[in-house]
Amino acid sequence: MKTEERTYFIRTFGCQMNEHDSERLAGMLEAEGYMPASGAEDATVVLFNTCCIRENADTRLYGNLGHVKSIKDRQPGKKIVVAGCLAQKDRSLIQEKAPYVDVVLGTHNLSSLPRLLREADEAPSFEILEQTETFPSALPTKRNSPWHAWVSISIGCNNSCTFCIVPAVRGREESRRMGDIVHEVESLVSDGVVEVTLLGQNVNSYGRDLDGTPMFSKLLYALNDVAGLKRVRFTSPHPKDFRADSVRAMAECEVVCEHIHLPVQSGSDRLLKRMKRAYTQERYLEKVRMVRRAIPEVAITTDIIVGFPGETEADFEQTLAVVAEVRFDGAYTFQYSPRPMTAAAGMADHLPKEVVQERYDRLLELQEEIGVERNARHLGATEELLVEGSSRKDPERLTGRTRTNKLVHFPNDGSAEGTFRSVKITATRPHYLEGEVTVQGAATAAPRSRLSLPLMAAASSGCSTCS
Ligand code: SAH
Ligand code: SF4
Ligand code: F3S
Repeated sequence: MKTEERTYFIRTFGCQMNEHDSERLAGMLEAEGYMPASGAEDATVVLFNTCCIRENADTRLYGNLGHVKSIKDRQPGKKIVVAGCLAQKDRSLIQEKAPYVDVVLGTHNLSSLPRLLREADEAPSFEILEQTETFPSALPTKRNSPWHAWVSISIGCNNSCTFCIVPAVRGREESRRMGDIVHEVESLVSDGVVEVTLLGQNVNSYGRDLDGTPMFSKLLYALNDVAGLKRVRFTSPHPKDFRADSVRAMAECEVVCEHIHLPVQSGSDRLLKRMKRAYTQERYLEKVRMVRRAIPEVAITTDIIVGFPGETEADFEQTLAVVAEVRFDGAYTFQYSPRPMTAAAGMADHLPKEVVQERYDRLLELQEEIGVERNARHLGATEELLVEGSSRKDPERLTGRTRTNKLVHFPNDGSAEGTFRSVKITATRPHYLEGEVTVQGAATAAPRSRLSLPLMAAASSGCSTCS
């Protein structure tokens, strides 16, 4: 096959870590001379970067593979690649279930893609490793956005939340050296990036494997000094490791956005223990109070699992109570899905689907009401927006994001994506805001008040699991 005929199409499932990895996979393919294709039909290589966090992620992949097979039957030269977490989990099962797949590679060996593709010219190739060969950040990249970048600060996870398959498919936590991260961000900024999202399964334990102490707050201060960088986001902090030093850094560093995604999972102490989350409802609420005292305008979002094995109506009501008390700006709500290689899968008392669905609907209803209320607080406010491009539903409007991560639609005034605008909020909806531009030209981040540190001191001490 001639080089100029080689094209690729990547379909990414799962979390931002997979988005990040897909950009590296694309970068390697482009370094090999592949060009992007507009869809699976036109591509010589179709790559699925997969997720296995819940069972429906598995089902979706095999459905998608079946669809690409029908295209491959018409275009025999096409290569199908399955990478990522589901590949790491299912291993040879993928080629057993879908023998037309040409390449399978796992989460630890992204760098092998070009070689495995070459080997697949002869016969299907398969490689799953147990440890990361090359940190994905060291690989070439093809970013989807000229102004935003995912920056991996650590890979893997050392926690053992009993519902979660991530440690089994992503391995032990490994932090990148701080200098390498700062250097990457500096070169991203010189390339036109204004916003970065730091990625790690538990960003607050960043650095513990380097010199024994978590260094996440130091990293935030270091990034605050990167000239030209306007916004830093991160995902996800773990409530057990989220401490006063990180809150202080969030409040003091102008580049760090006023948004935190703090997964609670459940409000019941009994279930939190069974989940091995290492905090109680009260400890979680203390963290919320700590961050709100320091940054009153902060938006807080969360993840919640409904129907964990053994969840009683009383447990579930504790989750509703936390939601009602915290008043989250948004919540990703999940029905518990048993996963192989997790402790919870083997627990007794899995709940009937109807019970889980009924609780899930109640939770959604409550959170919808709260989401409306939280968005309504922005009415009439002037917000700094980072323009993301045309609104998907209405090309007459542009879309941007506030520092608090709220989506805002506003009339298309020709603003370029990646630029900042000052927008007055004129209407609020359950899942987005509407606004109009008040100032043309680049807006800069509004100066933020310095926090009063004694507010946090009380919340940062006194718990063996969290301090
Ligand atoms: N490392 C991140 C979470 C990654 S998984 C963190 O700790 O915040 C993203 C979310 O998927 C989790 O927060 C959890 O709410 C959900 N999740 C994970 N395993 C699940 C399962 N087996 N069933 C349902 N939801 C699950
Ligand atoms: Fe999974 Fe828990 Fe690790 Fe998050 S912290 S990836 S939920 S094991
Ligand atoms: Fe992410 Fe899914 Fe893997 S949530 S880490 S892509 S299992």
